[in-house]
Amino acid sequence: MTSLFDPITLRDVTLDNRIVLPPMCQYQATEHDGVPTDWHLVHYGARATGGFGLVIAEATGVLPEGRITPDCTGIWNDDQRDAWTHIVGFCHEYGAAMGIQLAHAGRKASTYSGFDPAKSGSVPLDDGGWETYGPSAIPFPGLATPIEADTDYIASVVAAYAKAARRADEAGFDVVEVHAAHGYLISEFLSPLSNHRTDSYGGNFTGRTKLLLEVVDAIREVWPEGKPLFVRISATEWTDHGWSLEDSVRLAPILNEHGVDVIHVSSGGNVIAHMPADEDYQIPLASAVRAAGVRVCAVGRITDPLKAQTILDEGHADLIAVGRVALREPSWPLRAAAELEVDSRARYPDSYLRGRWPAVEPVR
Ligand SMILES: Cc1cc2nc3c(=O)[nH]c(=O)nc-3n(C[C@H](O)[C@H](O)[C@H](O)COP(=O)(O)O)c2cc1C
Repeated sequence: MTSLFDPITLRDVTLDNRIVLPPMCQYQATEHDGVPTDWHLVHYGARATGGFGLVIAEATGVLPEGRITPDCTGIWNDDQRDAWTHIVGFCHEYGAAMGIQLAHAGRKASTYSGFDPAKSGSVPLDDGGWETYGPSAIPFPGLATPIEADTDYIASVVAAYAKAARRADEAGFDVVEVHAAHGYLISEFLSPLSNHRTDSYGGNFTGRTKLLLEVVDAIREVWPEGKPLFVRISATEWTDHGWSLEDSVRLAPILNEHGVDVIHVSSGGNVIAHMPADEDYQIPLASAVRAAGVRVCAVGRITDPLKAQTILDEGHADLIAVGRVALREPSWPLRAAAELEVDSRARYPDSYLRGRWPAVEPVR
């Protein structure tokens, strides 16, 4: 049986365990220049010292207009890269591998973070917002109508992903994750509900997946052979006539052939739809994608260590991401180790050893 705490090697990168911090926007690039701040050092640093095998930094814009909010991070210039370098170096020191989610928010860019309850929806131009782009001039409900991206713009997005991946490598990241989920630009292209194009980037499955495959190929050109590439997808839109689980199962081996190592299986976000309320809503999606012969990271409402271990035991996933629970409990993996009776002393920073979870005899 694979333990949640067994290492896993992806290309030349070995993760210390199977527990992943999934990308979670912090909205703390407070100068609106996309440069990560002390917040990001403390936030990611705490999860690295907290025992995560892989920490994936939040949706990070490959272009300024690709940020979800003005407070989101970027990686389109060297200042941003240098700030990330510092954070990655710290996290490496404490045993975590570091990933970064490369993103373009498409028609869902230029929105308010929600921190100020008086401000919601699209940020107007006179409040620091910008024009958005989508596959078609169809707005996400409640947001501004995007400009339909022409082929020059699409080419510039593909090039920006490649430049961002190069900077991610220079910053020391071990993993790049392409954000192709949740109704952001690439996900908008995948879905027939948001992509009404009649050119080669629309229409059937091949047309709608073209942008994603171009992005993956462009990244693989510059991203080192020895470093893994993840793609996060919304495996279903939870609605009729949208991107479906069957589409995801068809896409997974194609991505694998293009050099993608792990599919991070999320769902929804491109249209307003009713998502199942049960705890296991996304596990069958991960399982179905994995059955197509690719490694997957499962995510969504996984809060209990035993449950996380069971998902691995039952063969539904290779990696387990725990998101919101890690916002309130940065060292969730260290508690999980104690509950699963695994010795994780090696992952405690020396300064914290005296406060470790009650010692247990290793079971192996
Ligand atoms: C505050 C917050 C920010 C998030 N930001 C991102 C993001 O940047 N990229 C992304 O793909 N998902 C994002 N998500 C989704 C999470 O990665 C995760 O898939 C989701 O929270 C479900 O997992 P959980 O139930 O363990 O929290 C975010 C979620 C939260 C709560």
